[in-house]
Amino acid sequence: MSTATASPNEITLPKPEGLEGVVAASTALSHVFGEEGRLVYRGYDIHELAGKASFEEVAHLLWIGHLPTKAELAAFQSKLEANRELPPAVIDVLRLLPDDAAPMDALRTGLSALGAIDSEHFDETPDLDEAIAVAARFPGILAAFFRLRSGEQPVKPKAGHNTAQSYLYQLFGKEPEARHWKPLDTYLVLLADHGMNASTFTARVIASTQSDLISALTGAVGALKGPLHGGAPSKVLDMLHAIGDADNVEKWLSNALDNGERLMGFGHRVYKAEDPRAEILREMAETASDPAFFKLSKLTEDKALQMLNERKPGRRLYTNVEFYSAAVLAAVGLPGDMFTPTFAVSRSVGWSAHVLEQVRNNRLIRPQSQFVGPTDKKFSAIESR
Ligand code: COA
Repeated sequence: MSTATASPNEITLPKPEGLEGVVAASTALSHVFGEEGRLVYRGYDIHELAGKASFEEVAHLLWIGHLPTKAELAAFQSKLEANRELPPAVIDVLRLLPDDAAPMDALRTGLSALGAIDSEHFDETPDLDEAIAVAARFPGILAAFFRLRSGEQPVKPKAGHNTAQSYLYQLFGKEPEARHWKPLDTYLVLLADHGMNASTFTARVIASTQSDLISALTGAVGALKGPLHGGAPSKVLDMLHAIGDADNVEKWLSNALDNGERLMGFGHRVYKAEDPRAEILREMAETASDPAFFKLSKLTEDKALQMLNERKPGRRLYTNVEFYSAAVLAAVGLPGDMFTPTFAVSRSVGWSAHVLEQVRNNRLIRPQSQFVGPTDKKFSAIESR
């Protein structure tokens, strides 16, 4: 990895605000009430939906605006099912990737390939049919790469599966057990949308230029990949493995903080109270994960919160969604490098719902920058510089 050093001529820039507090769009899809620690999807508190509504019901809610009736859900599920299979040419592109490529890179590549290969289908103004067609293929792209990298052939999706079942079936090639697909289904519900987060903003900016849906989603995947956004849960797992046992928790965390490192799975731009998804995932992890692993996670969480509170007083740093995502997704049988891609499977619905909302009420998103450089330099010929 290369580290960039500032040239001596570099102008010192003011501390960036990162658009904190700036309202970048109006949306009726979801909202994070940061002070209260609440998340709402189209009027429903996340506690109303988690463990009660399926991921498909929530996708219907976000895309179409209401929870489906039985008949609507059946029709909606058939539409998703009909769109799951990947064009063979997309699988051929995935075959070209090295086995050690990051799954998020494979997803970004597979999506981009889907857009190019099926360009007639996806090059129009984004609409609901396209949103369904792309989101339905996220699991297949990831699963195909997952199998190819270990020398196995992709498995075609099977009729009668919901998204969580289909994802696990395409990954592992066998009928998923309820103890795996049910917590995964709830996880997918929890992560489906989250206000104006970085990847959603990325998708909306791209959509605002009248670009296509796949370009918007490909950009969003790139934004989600970073550890300050969706890339944290595998790092949470790395942290817990590095800590190893209860006696090492305090020493490990203290060293990390002394070295100026961030503790993965803590802190949030908007939440100044506990992330409600973390609370639900903690309960799920307690039931689903290995008891020793849960005990270590809980001990690490408690100690980290205490130390962050002592070292960063007034910052109000709490556990975020990523901390217990790690335990839940590991219990579902996924390896660490598939955690962020699984987040993307869920968020594909939120991203595309935002793109549709942007397209319906569009104006190019084009902010300003504050210019802090000089404006009066004179050109000198190369020989005299
Ligand atoms: N560990 C240690 N310190 C943290 C921290 C963490 N996880 N999160 C924030 N802080 C500290 C920062 O060092 C900063 O302290 P300082 O002002 O004394 O320098 C202060 O809290 C505010 O941080 P800032 O980076 O301005 O907050 P932000 O709103 O820009 O960042 C996150 C939000 C999520 C990027 C940040 O909390 C973070 O990096 N968390 C760890 C990564 C993570 O869990 N990502 C998943 C997010 S869902």
